[in-house]
Amino acid sequence: MDEYIEANRRSWATLAADHYEAFKARLSHSESTLSETQRRELGDIRGKKLIHLQCNTGADTISLARMGARVTGVDLVPENIHYARKLAADLGVDDARFIESNVLEIMDKHDEQYDIVYTTEGVLCWLPDLHLWARNVFHLLGPDGYLYLLDGHPFFMVWDEEALPELVVRYPYFHKTADRGEWIGGYASEAKQAVNYCWNYTVGEIVTALSQAGLHIEWLHEFDWLYYQESEKQVEDQDGNWIFAEHRERLPFTFSLKATIR
Ligand SMILES: C[S@@+](CC[C@H](N)C(=O)[O-])C[C@H]1O[C@@H](n2cnc3c(N)ncnc32)[C@H](O)[C@@H]1O
Repeated sequence: MDEYIEANRRSWATLAADHYEAFKARLSHSESTLSETQRRELGDIRGKKLIHLQCNTGADTISLARMGARVTGVDLVPENIHYARKLAADLGVDDARFIESNVLEIMDKHDEQYDIVYTTEGVLCWLPDLHLWARNVFHLLGPDGYLYLLDGHPFFMVWDEEALPELVVRYPYFHKTADRGEWIGGYASEAKQAVNYCWNYTVGEIVTALSQAGLHIEWLHEFDWLYYQESEKQVEDQDGNWIFAEHRERLPFTFSLKATIR
């Protein structure tokens, strides 16, 4: 497993400087990189102690701080943590903290408890062990805390991305092994060629991992839009989400969930 994590660490590091530049430009002109949907679902987070898992170069972490949360970002990649601290300093967000860690090991080195564990947009697929991830989430939550997760819907993950909006099954829904990718990124800056590994999980596996770790799913929402632009054939809706018009109200592309301590 370690060689997969190492490959992903190297792979994401190639994007860190470009992401810093791209997110700095975005956050200099706009208050937030969070979508309307996320802001609505999170509600009022002023004063909440929040930990952001897989924070990349900290753009969403900074957006959450601007919403009034007391934030800590965690990412695997030292270059991401370096640029996250730089981005926060550049934008005058002085109280954001950043920790370099594999999220599957955070419970071994960090004992603080949080009101909110936040993790969104391209996260679960990088984790080789969902049960271990869920135990780490549980470890970070205080008694009234909750997890907020928003990610690609597992059913969306089966489609051949090059064929969409035509529906061609390319990846099995019931997937047990790592997928090797040759390219990384592309959603904030140009994609780079770098070997990486990812995993698909079913809806059942996600819910079961959280439940077995001691969490209670309060709600799980499914959406007919994607949170990023995958293809030129998508159109943007009024909330900044990306829709394939022919699949509107027909297929799930994104899901979010809130889980509390049981
Ligand atoms: C698609 S990005 C997350 C998107 C993020 N919302 C953003 O704004 O860029 C995935 C992130 O997960 C991080 N990552 C991958 N595997 C990880 C792991 N095992 N532990 C911690 N972070 C990890 C990568 O370094 C990368 O920053």
